[in-house]
Amino acid sequence: MTITTAQPRPVTHDVIDPAILYFGTPVVLLATVGSDGAPNLAPMSSVFWLGSTAVIGMGGRSLTARNLLATGECVLNLPSADQVDAVDRLALTTGRADVPEGKHAAGYRHVPDKLAHADLTGVSAETVGAPRVAECPVNLEGRVVAHRPLAGTEHDEDPTWIFDVAISRVHVHPEIRAQGHANRIDPDRWRPLLMSFQQFYGLGARVSPSRLATIDEEWYR
Ligand SMILES: Cc1cc2nc3c(=O)[nH]c(=O)nc-3n(C[C@H](O)[C@H](O)[C@H](O)COP(=O)(O)O)c2cc1C
Repeated sequence: MTITTAQPRPVTHDVIDPAILYFGTPVVLLATVGSDGAPNLAPMSSVFWLGSTAVIGMGGRSLTARNLLATGECVLNLPSADQVDAVDRLALTTGRADVPEGKHAAGYRHVPDKLAHADLTGVSAETVGAPRVAECPVNLEGRVVAHRPLAGTEHDEDPTWIFDVAISRVHVHPEIRAQGHANRIDPDRWRPLLMSFQQFYGLGARVSPSRLATIDEEWYR
């Protein structure tokens, strides 16, 4: 009788040094307001959520970071995949009239009214001064409760900032709500726009039943 021992499956990896590690996150149109009351809107995707707090990362040269440091008021507007054209129109723009030299060299230009530029509609938020974007299926109003420079950038002239944003109100289009539940999103109906390595993607269909989903969502409240 021949005994065979199971061999480890051959797996090889290459060691590489990517300039960015953007493996895929949702796109947010982040609306902010300056201390003069002027609104601004910027695409960003360094974001995740823990409970009802959003953690976002913004480069210190952006008007968005400056507005968040000044007033702390914002709306995280989540576009769906079919709003990609509006999002892409906002790429390579800044609300800063004094476009930083490095960004100018990379192709950025000043756009004073980003909402109009992207043909989007601003509507008043209920708990903050920054605008909601009517076309985005999700508007998360919030306020900065903590901020700090990203480790390694604290001595830079313009650090990258990490902001903890406490969400104060959630507005959603009725089409993405889970039927029969007062406070739930149906993930089969919500089609977020994702960014992976500077390219836009949508989600495919659900791939498998989920054991975690046997926990009622209210358990997390
Ligand atoms: C899809 C997308 C995602 C982006 N993600 C981020 C991000 O997470 N953080 C960031 O600082 N900039 C990000 N940017 C670049 C900002 O939009 C850019 O710095 C812009 O000039 C900010 O606008 P503002 O100066 O008016 O605030 C992203 C741009 C695009 C198009």
